Amino acid sequence: MRKVTATLPDCRGCDLHEYAEQVVPGEGRVRARMMLIGEQPGDVEDKEGHVFVGPAGRLLDKALIEAGIERSEVFLTNAVKHFRFERQGKRRIHKTPSAGQIVACRPWLDRELEIVKPDLVVILGAVAARALLGPGFKVTEQRGTQVQLPDGQAAVATVHPSAVVRSQEFRGDFAHFVNDLRAARELLP
Ligand code: URA
Repeated sequence: MRKVTATLPDCRGCDLHEYAEQVVPGEGRVRARMMLIGEQPGDVEDKEGHVFVGPAGRLLDKALIEAGIERSEVFLTNAVKHFRFERQGKRRIHKTPSAGQIVACRPWLDRELEIVKPDLVVILGAVAARALLGPGFKVTEQRGTQVQLPDGQAAVATVHPSAVVRSQEFRGDFAHFVNDLRAARELLP
């Protein structure tokens, strides 16, 4: 298990470093066949410095197991490497990263893609989908099927695990999420 960090901890590409506890780099198997890309670290990830270790990460872990994918075999990262939030009393509430913050963080994601060279990218949620496929891409309409990133990289998009955590239709949405991950696994060469 490795992190791709380089000079990332010193990044001042946008204002998020001023508020977050730390940068949360992608981590996992270098040369993984599958790279999963989420939105940004959450509250727990920001405190612990690791990707997908909070509630969304726990759900993702369960879904990966059901889909027959080993977490230790993949590389997990986010479109944005710092937690963006707003304070409500003592709580830090997730705030969607801005287009500018996503663009500022893009060189780090590109570097991870360059190092890992995955066969398949799994895009988790609308923010990562917008970052990688542009605003015209609709996760709800195109989830679970193979698409191509502008550079030709094979990818599959699905919902973000946080959306499943919050879902009113939890069982059905979890099963659908697992199906998408399974479809992604089956696309691996
Ligand atoms: N949500 C994400 O998109 N990434 C994480 O690492 C945690 C929650």
